[in-house]
Amino acid sequence: MSLIPYALTRPFLFGLDAERAHDLTLAALERLQNTPAQALWQQLRISDPVNIAGLNFPNRVGLAAGLDKDGRCIDGLGAMGFGFIEVGTVTPLPQPGNPRPRIFRVPDALALVNRLGFNNEGLDAFIGHVQRARTFRARGGVLGLNIGKNAATPIDKAPDDYLACMRGVYPYADYITINISSPNTANLRSLQSDEQLQWLLQRLMERRAEMARDHGPKPIFVKIAPDLEEEQVKGIAATLQRHGIDGVIATNTTVSRHGVNHLPNGQETGGLSGAPLLGASNRIIRMLRTELGSTYPIIGVGGVLSGEDACTKIKAGANLVQIYTGLIYRGPALVTQVARALKSG
Ligand code: FNR
Repeated sequence: MSLIPYALTRPFLFGLDAERAHDLTLAALERLQNTPAQALWQQLRISDPVNIAGLNFPNRVGLAAGLDKDGRCIDGLGAMGFGFIEVGTVTPLPQPGNPRPRIFRVPDALALVNRLGFNNEGLDAFIGHVQRARTFRARGGVLGLNIGKNAATPIDKAPDDYLACMRGVYPYADYITINISSPNTANLRSLQSDEQLQWLLQRLMERRAEMARDHGPKPIFVKIAPDLEEEQVKGIAATLQRHGIDGVIATNTTVSRHGVNHLPNGQETGGLSGAPLLGASNRIIRMLRTELGSTYPIIGVGGVLSGEDACTKIKAGANLVQIYTGLIYRGPALVTQVARALKSG
């Protein structure tokens, strides 16, 4: 148990604009991580080791990308009991993202809408922060680095951005995630289409082979959207396997507003995350499992607000689970709850 119950902190944070609450929390975590004050939110990590894609995960609960875009709080977040943490999305150059406000709570649906647009400090700063993380990895935590493209890079030049990011982050990652599924960067999701995906993955796998000569082979995962038809999922699954991609992360946020349309903030533009996403993302996981066979690594993410929700992802075919919005609504205790449920389930 952490020393501060989230029930006490949440009303204060929810009284603030969502991004302000996020920034304050991350600033506090960054300042206090690896100090005695970390006891305020530290939790025992549930031990439930599993080997996926050649990596030893201490348990099956991870932090999803986008909460710590610049990789500043890896140790502080790791202290919540995560088996793995994914930071980013990072782009080659720093960029401000979209105008504020750009994160909206939809509390009645246990959901968020965001249209941040890959605001981040850029690759060089990201690598600096990641290198400073000490305790999480030393204690066996697995670190994923999630890469993307700058908004100003034309989509036909997108592979250059991913290649630059891959070169930069490779030495410091346990795995690398290729994010082609954010709804908040124009045309990004078109990279999921057959021809563009083939071209991108071919070049990335060539770069991986180059980097592996000095730094060893590291798993590459591709993160996909929930808003895909069955035929598209089949096409993506075949392409991932053909190019030797090591795993898939399903899913990113949705552009659908099913179930939230009538609620305050429900119609904001952006990607919807949290409870309303559970069914849609599980549907993609089920399709992927059917297409990819029983051993291909799948990381399930989208709408996990409880241990039972996480179990539905494993049942749908996921090997590991990530959370983001659940952490905002339920607090760090959710990490332990989910890890425990997956261990016993
Ligand atoms: C995200 N997500 C995300 N994903 C990603 O690959 N790169 C990113 O930069 C971001 N940024 C981001 C910001 C915010 C505010 C949210 C809420 C989400 C998507 C996230 O990793 C996850 O895939 C979805 O949010 C679905 O999971 P949850 O939130 O329902 O557990």
